[in-house]
Amino acid sequence: MTSQKDKFWWKKAIGYQIYPISFFDSNDDGIGDIRGIIQKIDYIKYLGVDLIWLNPVYRSPKIDNGYDISNFQEIDPDFGTLEDLKELIELLHQNGIHLIMDLVINHTSDQHPWFIQALQSKDNKYHDYYHWVDGDANHLPNDWENWSGDFEWTFVPHLKQWYFHIFNSKMPDLNWENPKLRDEIISMIKWWLEFGIDGFRLDAISHIKKMPFDNLMADVPSDKDKWSVHTNVNGFKDFLELIKNVFSQYPIFTVGEASGVSSSLAQIWTGEQGYFNSIFELEHNIHDETDLNGRPIGNRFQFKNIIDRWQTDTRSFGWMSPYLSNHDNPRALQTWGDNKSSKSAKALATILLSLQGTPFVYFGDEIGIPSFNFQSIEEINDPEAHIKYDSLITKGENPQDALSEIGVWNRDQGRSPMQWNSDKNAGFTKGTPYFKVNPSYKKVNVEQQIKQNDSTLNYYKKLIALRKKNSALNDGEYYGIESNDQNIFAFIRKAKDKTTLTLVNLSENQNKFVLPEKILNFNWHPLINNFIGNLKIEKKISLNPWNAIILESDDYE
Ligand code: NOJ
Repeated sequence: MTSQKDKFWWKKAIGYQIYPISFFDSNDDGIGDIRGIIQKIDYIKYLGVDLIWLNPVYRSPKIDNGYDISNFQEIDPDFGTLEDLKELIELLHQNGIHLIMDLVINHTSDQHPWFIQALQSKDNKYHDYYHWVDGDANHLPNDWENWSGDFEWTFVPHLKQWYFHIFNSKMPDLNWENPKLRDEIISMIKWWLEFGIDGFRLDAISHIKKMPFDNLMADVPSDKDKWSVHTNVNGFKDFLELIKNVFSQYPIFTVGEASGVSSSLAQIWTGEQGYFNSIFELEHNIHDETDLNGRPIGNRFQFKNIIDRWQTDTRSFGWMSPYLSNHDNPRALQTWGDNKSSKSAKALATILLSLQGTPFVYFGDEIGIPSFNFQSIEEINDPEAHIKYDSLITKGENPQDALSEIGVWNRDQGRSPMQWNSDKNAGFTKGTPYFKVNPSYKKVNVEQQIKQNDSTLNYYKKLIALRKKNSALNDGEYYGIESNDQNIFAFIRKAKDKTTLTLVNLSENQNKFVLPEKILNFNWHPLINNFIGNLKIEKKISLNPWNAIILESDDYE
């Protein structure tokens, strides 16, 4: 919004992540699109959020759902046109809503004209826009592997060279050492900012600098992240400085995807000194193991501790963008809730919307869509899940077991279409949806929840409105509170004139929270409670299963 005077407007904003392909289909081709978002602006206003993060809508072959970009300055025809996007931005701005887009500058699609040219010959002027190593087909340049267990190199026989890619082989990494490439990226960034967007979410930004390729993953000690060969490598700050110089000329909001960043090192990333206004930490969503029930080990206790540590470590200097789930994870309702009840969805919402920072709600979480339960591998689109599945089959696992293993944690679990009503395809499309609609839509949908006063949706709406007008919730500093039960998440947000106390019972059992003396001595009254009934504020507060409460005090010191 060009008229935006306040440079720090984003500190009071509440974000909403839209995964466009799954949001709303305006032309019945089965794929969500920009005009679909335009048609749902009233819904976004109803919810009360005022900052949209739109996942990629750029031209792309969609090997990785749009993160493989073949033209940075065009909109993919599946999603619409640049004119549609302009209209969306104007309409959002008229309603006081900002919009940020993904900035994917670690890699492109292999269909990007730069890479097509780079493939032509070693002398082509675009060749050096990517990373190449001479060699032969039988000898990989090094042992670097990505998270799917795939080598990060692909051989091009006619060049007798390998090219480097952290992600899919159809997503070659850009060579940031090349000044010409850097200039092109900078002018592209300026072009988007002049177009009128309000900022960026920076994708995979910690990987733009790589170690020299003769460093081996095998040499990284086993207690260190093997990805350190291309994560936050010395010298990457020079690249980030260049980008920051452009950002600082605009009243925008930037949020970096802080892969491989620990809370103690976040200071160079966020806050006044940092490269971005804010960051998404990835730590709370790491689930590389499962328990005996096949549930990701990223359990509630760990979740609570990780969030608490990030909030505490960044309190004085930084600014976080808290979130629960996103398009790279199963729905939060599965991971930390019970994957079904409105009570547990509301408990998670209470945490998210009372943390310090600019929070982001992932589309669909506000109605409590559960994670998708896949019946066959054909129902999964995500190439990463297919790579894992194929490798399990190659190792001799039977298809059912391989599917169960993939089904516990994969990125498509949280990507199913938005559930607008109980009509066919949940009202997402009148065509054939590109992705199966989650069968929960008959019960869990927007239309029904708007009508129901105590729905998850209306609880989100109340929380959002509360956060907007409450100085402690939108501006206060975070202080974690030691709790007598590991399932209770308790913390304070303290502003000059007000303090709030959030208490959330992250379990299906009745629990009691013992109020520390220091807190008990002041006057507290409830602001919101996901259970109806009188709340007794006494030494031991009784919490129902999934009970979430925010209390407020005007005299707490
Ligand atoms: C992070 C994005 O969130 C993810 O969806 C994508 O696959 C990778 N970066 C590569 O762009």
